Amino acid sequence: MRKLAAGNWKMNGVAASLAEVKALLAAHPDPVCEMLLCPPATLIAQMAWAAKGSVLKIGGQDCHPKAAGAHTGDISAAMLADAGAGHVILGHSERRADHGEGDALVQAKAQAAWAAGLVAVICVGETEAQRDGGQTLAVVGGQLAGSVPDGATAANTVIAYEPVWAIGTGRTPTLAEIAEVHGFLRAQLTARFGAEAAGMRLLYGGSVKPSNAVEIFAVPDVDGALVGGASLKAADFGAIVAALSAA
Ligand code: PGA
Repeated sequence: MRKLAAGNWKMNGVAASLAEVKALLAAHPDPVCEMLLCPPATLIAQMAWAAKGSVLKIGGQDCHPKAAGAHTGDISAAMLADAGAGHVILGHSERRADHGEGDALVQAKAQAAWAAGLVAVICVGETEAQRDGGQTLAVVGGQLAGSVPDGATAANTVIAYEPVWAIGTGRTPTLAEIAEVHGFLRAQLTARFGAEAAGMRLLYGGSVKPSNAVEIFAVPDVDGALVGGASLKAADFGAIVAALSAA
C-alpha cells in the first residue's frame, strides 16, 4: 500500500498561493508517498495546470450527489474531474456541521464521486463531548457504516479519521487513542469488505504538523494524513510528506 499525504486547503488560497505548490514540487518532486492537495474549487484547474507532469494529485473538498442540474452554487463530481481533480473529500466535519450533512448524503456523494472516476476521501470523527462520553468508537463506526457505500475498494476509497476537537486546535489524541480508532476502523472495514480492506488507506487528520508527524505515522494502521492548516505552506506540508515517506 502506498501511503498518502493529503492537504485540505479549506476556504483558503487564491491564484498567488500556487507559488506554494511550485515550491512543494521543487522540494519534493518524487516522494515515496502519494501527495494530494485539495484546494478550493476556484483553484482546482489552475493547480492541476501547475502540477501537470508532476506526481502531485489534485482533489475537491465536496461534490453534489447529482451529476448535473438546477443546484445553484453546487459542483458535481464530473465537474471536479473535468477541472483536473482525481479525488474529492466527502463528509468532512466542517461540511457535516456547517451544512448539516448526514451519512446518507455523504454516501450518495461517494457514489457520485466514483461514477465520475474520482477517489472518495470519506471523513469520520467524534466531537469532544462524544469522546468524553465514551462514544468514540460507536460514533465513528456509525459514520463509517453509513457514509461508505457498498462497492468500496482500496482504489476508489480513502478513509480519514478526524476527531472534530483536534481539527485546527493544535490538540491531538494520544498515539494509543489514534491506534485504537484506526485498528477499529480497519476491523470494521475488514468485516464488511474482506481482504480488500487491508489496502484501504486510513488517514489521521487533526492538527498534524511537522513536529508530530513522525510519531503519528509510526502508529499502526495510520496510512497517511489529512492535513489542514499545515498544508498551506510548502515547507510544512513538505516536511510532513518527508516524514510519511520515511515511515
Ligand atoms: P487541521 O485540519 O490540520 O488544520 O487541524 C485538518 C482537517 O480538517 O482536515
